[in-house]
Amino acid sequence: MADPPGAHRLSARLRRETHAAHDAAQGSGFLDALATGLLPWEAYADLTAQHWFLYEALELAARTMIDDPLARAFVFPELTRLPSLEADLRFMHGPRWPDRIAALPATTTYCTRLRYAANSHPIGFIAHHYTRYLGDLSGGQYLGRAIARSYGLNGEGHRFFVFDGIDAESLKSYYRQLLDTLPWSRYEQEEFIAEVLEAYRLNIAVLDDLRQRWT
Ligand code: HEM
Repeated sequence: MADPPGAHRLSARLRRETHAAHDAAQGSGFLDALATGLLPWEAYADLTAQHWFLYEALELAARTMIDDPLARAFVFPELTRLPSLEADLRFMHGPRWPDRIAALPATTTYCTRLRYAANSHPIGFIAHHYTRYLGDLSGGQYLGRAIARSYGLNGEGHRFFVFDGIDAESLKSYYRQLLDTLPWSRYEQEEFIAEVLEAYRLNIAVLDDLRQRWT
């Protein structure tokens, strides 16, 4: 039987081939426990701290990759999360927040991979960029609302999840079009999907570390 129209597009292949990894990330338990308010407030503050370390590495890579002819199309300044994370951490810990946060071992491993894979090559950069920001614009939107409800947040403390002035659905569909126009060979596409799978594994490891600490 012939493949359905569009099945060969990179965005479609990507969704298909990362479906199981996404299910594993979604089912990690820690995020659900936060969404339903089962964990102490400090567990949510800890997730925010881990995000800070990850986005510092990712957004530094974005600054380096802005001159790359392929990667530059994926650098959307309006997605930048670091200022929102810092506002959330200030709200949670006060002005001395930098002294109050520490990276978990899995976060350090993730940051090391990010620095290696995303700073010098568009394949690695786009793979890590896609995994975080498309996730934030998808399940992250549901998660942000659920966390705000569970922990009684109203404006402050959950800015990370709020993308001011962005229509998430339009941005995601534009992003998928960009993926589909990348001039990559089959081999390069495979390398890209392998790095996205690696990014999922790294995210799951961070969530597992958090679950072990807080449950
Ligand atoms: C509470 C946990 C989660 C829920 C409920 C959730 C839910 C979803 C849903 C419903 C979509 C589809 C959106 C659409 O079709 O437009 C999606 C997409 C996505 N999610 Fe998650 N997710 C969760 C956790 C994660 C995690 C931990 C990651 C990795 C960091 C992640 C990364 C992604 C990515 C990259 C996409 C885009 C897939 C694509 O369209 O190519 N998600 N998520």
